[in-house]
Amino acid sequence: MTTIISASPIKSSIDDFALFGGTPMFAEALHVGRPNIGNRQTFATLVDGIFDRRWLTNAGQCVKEFERRLADLLGVKHCIAMCNATVGLDITVRALELKGEVIVPSFTFIATAHALKWQQITPVFCDIDAATHNIDPYRVEEIITSRTTGILGVHVWGRACDIDALGEIAQRYKLRLLFDAAHAFACSYKGQMIGGFGDVEVFSFHATKFFNTFEGGAVTTNNDELARKIRLMKNFGFSGYDQVSYLGTNGKMSEISAAMGLTSLESLADFIETNHRNYQQYQESLNGVPHIRLVSFDDNEKLNYQYVVIEIDEQVPVTRDQLMEILHAENVVARRYFYPGCHRMEPYRSDDPNAGSKLPITEELAEHVLALPTGTAVDAEQISAICEAIRFIIANGSEVNERFAAKK
Ligand SMILES: Cc1ncc(COP(=O)(O)O)c(C=O)c1O
Repeated sequence: MTTIISASPIKSSIDDFALFGGTPMFAEALHVGRPNIGNRQTFATLVDGIFDRRWLTNAGQCVKEFERRLADLLGVKHCIAMCNATVGLDITVRALELKGEVIVPSFTFIATAHALKWQQITPVFCDIDAATHNIDPYRVEEIITSRTTGILGVHVWGRACDIDALGEIAQRYKLRLLFDAAHAFACSYKGQMIGGFGDVEVFSFHATKFFNTFEGGAVTTNNDELARKIRLMKNFGFSGYDQVSYLGTNGKMSEISAAMGLTSLESLADFIETNHRNYQQYQESLNGVPHIRLVSFDDNEKLNYQYVVIEIDEQVPVTRDQLMEILHAENVVARRYFYPGCHRMEPYRSDDPNAGSKLPITEELAEHVLALPTGTAVDAEQISAICEAIRFIIANGSEVNERFAAKK
């Protein structure tokens, strides 16, 4: 028997881990992105109002109020609520009349790239900055061609892109600049709320986001003409009864989603406080665990702390995927992000099978990050148990690795 360095009050040997025959730490799965639910009474009252008015969608009272409140909060002139961020991106890309090539990171959710491809635009994948995980402005400039019409940045984990540098490049090359702000609701850049940067920003309020409207999203901009166009486009292009002035689609947010949004808004500060507390607990509990670094945030900014992400270094005796497998067996459904990178998924993989050679940092990061459960559905005791389990697995990495080899 190998010596076990015990760091866990729950797991004192490798055999205690469910993957190797033990009992899972948790009876129920702890998911990343388990929804935060606001005050049920607030929601019920809003839904009663919707039923009383018999107005279920199409610019109803809840949607209008939701848009107004968001615009206020974000300090932006226009907020257009959407059925989800993907359609918000689709519409935005069309409204901006992007064509040819648009530069975008591959280290993002597939919807970012799809929104371009859906409009017959080639997403040209750009590598990221290893420190920020966001699109690297230096790399952007290297891949601009005569076909480039825009740059689509993504504020990954809620940490803003280098907006100033991207803005300067966009201006110099006369490119449109837009941001996928799906992760960055209630976050700031240099003290100013995300939402008013570039030509347009697009938020997601999907159930897995810390602030949700079941499904939903919003497009925000300070550009009056663009806002008018996007508003028409999300409603089939209707500019009046029986009058259509654009090619449009159906991107409307429904009243029930807006009611959930208003309910979530009421608890916004609480959700962020819980996320921050959880983040700090992870930070303290994982402090000193070799080979693991928690993705950090600039406390001078407003942040939502909705992602607790660890980066696992090359020298670690257990791989990221082994760690994930062990945690999954414990009912801790930690998630790889954005694995394996858009460029390794279809249709992009077939479009450019060698894209990976131009994206070394993206490839590296996609192999080494793991998101851990947080939000109001996870409590301090659970976080403590998760951290102790991670500490134990890393401390006994070589033995764990041997067990994996023996399992094959
Ligand atoms: C970075 C990013 N972009 C876009 C989306 C798509 O958002 P939605 O699910 O609201 O369409 C997501 C959702 O997970 C995302 O994380």
